[in-house]
Amino acid sequence: MRKPLLAGNWKMNKTIDESVALVSELAEKVKGVDDREILVCPTYPALKPVADAIAGTNIMLGAQNIFWEEKGAYTGEVSGPMLKAAGCKYVIIGHSERRQYFGETDETVNKRVKAALKYRLLPIICVGETLEEREKDVTKKVVETQLKGGINGLTTDELLLTTIAYEPVWAIGTGKTASPEQAEEVHAFIRGLLPAEVKDTVRILYGGSMNPGNVKELMAKEDIDGGLIGGASLKAEDFAAIVKY
Ligand code: PGA
Repeated sequence: MRKPLLAGNWKMNKTIDESVALVSELAEKVKGVDDREILVCPTYPALKPVADAIAGTNIMLGAQNIFWEEKGAYTGEVSGPMLKAAGCKYVIIGHSERRQYFGETDETVNKRVKAALKYRLLPIICVGETLEEREKDVTKKVVETQLKGGINGLTTDELLLTTIAYEPVWAIGTGKTASPEQAEEVHAFIRGLLPAEVKDTVRILYGGSMNPGNVKELMAKEDIDGGLIGGASLKAEDFAAIVKY
């Protein structure tokens, strides 16, 4: 049985004070929920303050990216040990916004995934096709290439620590959710690509305009094990409603 994971990706939103206020409000609203995992991924400056605010609650902390070196002359980057020390358990890797605006490739995704695992952070690897790719009917090919590139060289034990997020780019921040059937088709396809020893254990999250109104029918699908939620995770009430779908 895969435990659902509801992960809030706050992207580049909220100051430290706003982040602490948001997570504190959320903590009140999701108190006692223990049959699913709840994760928030704030900006780097807010990591430690949010970690302190959620100490003793059922909310976990994640980062939105990681660099593969441990330390050194890499201006602007943040490493695994730094994220660990700030209280992170998870890290989002290869989000489509990173691929689109910051030159992320399947190779760099793979390096970040390996770095995360090396420092005992649980990677959430994002894959997903653009609208153009969907219209050209190459969704599965795109997703397969991204997935295989991202998990390349991982051992079975490492794969068991990994979460995949299927996020169709055309559904991110657009209010246009994939239908549960569209999402399930790709989720089942992704599961089928995973090695037999891990495929029933690895969680596959859906991301792209998930909200309190559509979460239930998405989560009803066999291969959808949770959500990576952007916009709706910025409002405690909405994110709490999603968590408690
Ligand atoms: P959205 O973002 O929920 O705002 O569509 C999801 C994501 O990009 O992770």
